[in-house]
Amino acid sequence: MIELNNIHKSYFLAGQEEPVLKGINFKMNDGDMIALMGPSGSGKSTLMNIIGLLDHPTSGIYKLNNTEIASFESDQLAELRNRYIGFVFQSFFLLPRLTALQNVMLPLLYRNMTREEMKKLAMEKLIKVGMKDLTHHKPSQLSGGQQQRVAIARALVGDPKVILADEPTGALDAKTSQEVMDLLIGLNQAEGTTIVVVTHDEDVASQCKKVTRIRDGRLI
Ligand SMILES: Nc1ncnc2c1ncn2[C@@H]1O[C@H](COP(=O)(O)OP(=O)(O)OP(=O)(O)O)[C@@H](O)[C@H]1O
Ligand SMILES: [Mg+2]
Repeated sequence: MIELNNIHKSYFLAGQEEPVLKGINFKMNDGDMIALMGPSGSGKSTLMNIIGLLDHPTSGIYKLNNTEIASFESDQLAELRNRYIGFVFQSFFLLPRLTALQNVMLPLLYRNMTREEMKKLAMEKLIKVGMKDLTHHKPSQLSGGQQQRVAIARALVGDPKVILADEPTGALDAKTSQEVMDLLIGLNQAEGTTIVVVTHDEDVASQCKKVTRIRDGRLI
């Protein structure tokens, strides 16, 4: 589904090149559930952003369904990202002024849909993540675990093939972390959603089908 060949990524600070990814080869198949582990600063988020089409590699080949995407324009990339990929982050990134329901509807604003259709789809996902009764709460009126559920519903609302979760349990206690993991595992099992989870937690990683480790800019 997604294949990276010899991906390099450097940041340039004050004219100085800092290589972060140094020849990453990575393949994700339909239905995978992969944990990505590695020390702080090893490039996990950088790699997730590249996998998620949020950032460009400095060099290397990115293929989506066997098609190389290097030549795509940024609006084509945005369209692909919107259709294929859902993101979940450690700090949830919900908009504070919007209700849970409105936050989940957000990704649908770019689609050709009526407000009623958006609402219906958003409600379906909120029910799926167990947030049926809290749809009119704002993020500040929800616990961390509840906010992450809303963020997962938002990631799911466009029916993405892939969920990229960057330390989704990093801000949660052990019990709430497990609930969020159970939700992700359930999605992977019931719907075949392909999932990549960045985690520092061996216990979280051990629940994934595969574990990939990054060290010094390379996968091991
Ligand atoms: N926009 C940027 N500009 C310059 N350097 C950056 C930028 N983003 C990341 N870096 C550097 O790239 C390296 C990898 O960062 P990255 O965020 O990918 O690490 P990480 O593995 O996700 O770490 P953590 O576990 O702490 O989240 C770090 O040294 C970081 O300072
Ligand atoms: Mg990170």
